[in-house]
Amino acid sequence: MIKAVVVTVFMCLSVVATQNIVCYYDNRAASYSTPTFPGNLSVTNCTHYVYDGVGVTAQGEIRILSSYDTASGFEDFQKLRQNGDIKLYVLLTSDRDGGKNLTNAIASRSEKLVNNIAIFVEQYNFHGVEIDRRTIDFDKNALARFVNRLRSRLYMINKQLAVSVSAQFTDAYDITSLSLYADMINFHAYSFTSPLANTVADLAPLYSTTAGVDSVNSTLASWLAAGVRKNKLNLVVVPYARTYVLVNESQRTVGSRSAGPGPAGPNTKRAGFLARYEFCSVLNDYTVVSGSVAGTTYYYKGKNWVSIETEDTLGSKFIYAIDNGLAGVAIYSLDSDDVNDACGTGAYRIAKLANEYLSNP
Ligand SMILES: *[C@@H]1O[C@H](CO)[C@@H](O)[C@H](O)[C@H]1NC(C)=O
Ligand SMILES: *[C@@H]1O[C@H](CO)[C@@H](O)[C@H](O)[C@H]1NC(C)=O
Ligand SMILES: *[C@@H]1O[C@H](CO)[C@@H](O)[C@H](O)[C@H]1NC(C)=O
Ligand SMILES: *[C@@H]1O[C@H](CO)[C@@H](O)[C@H](O)[C@H]1NC(C)=O
Ligand SMILES: *[C@@H]1O[C@H](CO)[C@@H](O)[C@H](O)[C@H]1NC(C)=O
Repeated sequence: MIKAVVVTVFMCLSVVATQNIVCYYDNRAASYSTPTFPGNLSVTNCTHYVYDGVGVTAQGEIRILSSYDTASGFEDFQKLRQNGDIKLYVLLTSDRDGGKNLTNAIASRSEKLVNNIAIFVEQYNFHGVEIDRRTIDFDKNALARFVNRLRSRLYMINKQLAVSVSAQFTDAYDITSLSLYADMINFHAYSFTSPLANTVADLAPLYSTTAGVDSVNSTLASWLAAGVRKNKLNLVVVPYARTYVLVNESQRTVGSRSAGPGPAGPNTKRAGFLARYEFCSVLNDYTVVSGSVAGTTYYYKGKNWVSIETEDTLGSKFIYAIDNGLAGVAIYSLDSDDVNDACGTGAYRIAKLANEYLSNP
């Protein structure tokens, strides 16, 4: 009896003392020409790891999107448990099809999807599931009912529930229900400007420089005003770069005209996107400009224009998360961090930095 009490007290203390560092792994990284596997992440020190991504069908079935997952990905991911007291989640992703399947399944096959999720997290031994709702094409009441139902089902098997949200779409969510039923809300606060705007934009300004322009601070203010439980909210930061081609290389301030996304990186091969290690290997040719008010940095070389977080801008965000009493931070995703020390400051520098800030608040 005494032993049980002591254990409980100890567990409470460790929960209070630890802030979340939620680290995503994107399973597409396993098929890059120089791949990153979950096993490579064992040098990081996150409190939660999220395997991104598994799909669903509109009929509410779980859909494995890459044969790598069941061949060795899930198994390799499980080995991260050797890192200590960590939690492993699986992300039901929206970004491979704009979230349409998930939207349809939640709207019309919700009960079936809830059951399939419960079976899936047990079968593959995850601690929890994260529902990716970074889109706006869904019915917020249907999502609230679904999250409520899923919470009850997962509670029975002692599994956890997270939801990822797009920071700038405050009105798209029933924030009270998400706060009540989710164990964590991962607050994706970046890419506030649509690529369709045809202008170069800061990837993730901490503060707004112009009234009406979104930032981490302005979007968080809206969520807080709507009553979000901030002790469930993790501020998501991105290690990668957003890249553009300028229309006129002499017009390169934030908001200047863009002719489109920058060229794809040699390893990740997605237009407008460079992993941190890809940018570091060309960084020397670039000129740097920091936006001290917004808390951002951009780089340019001729018509190439790149927005990426620096250690300083990230440090400010981590302090901001602590000062605002958030649950912690999240990194989306580790495979786009400096996986091979191309920047010369140590592999997985962003994860390391999160550790430095969050373990000594
Ligand atoms: C990732 O791990 C594999 C072995 O599983 C290894 O061959 C590869 O070099 C590692 N990648 C990096 C960037 O360290
Ligand atoms: C992980 O974090 C703990 C606590 O902050 C620290 O003692 C340990 O050295 C870290 N390990 C690594 C590999 O960073
Ligand atoms: C969407 O559903 C279809 C079949 O219903 C499936 O083939 C596809 O993989 C699903 N996409 C995602 C991203 O889950
Ligand atoms: C952050 O947001 C709050 C709430 O809207 C606002 O009062 C404050 O001025 C903002 N901070 C900065 C530096 O813009
Ligand atoms: C590019 O911008 C510069 C500076 O604003 C301007 O002088 C020049 O005419 C522009 N070039 C073109 C082709 O529009």
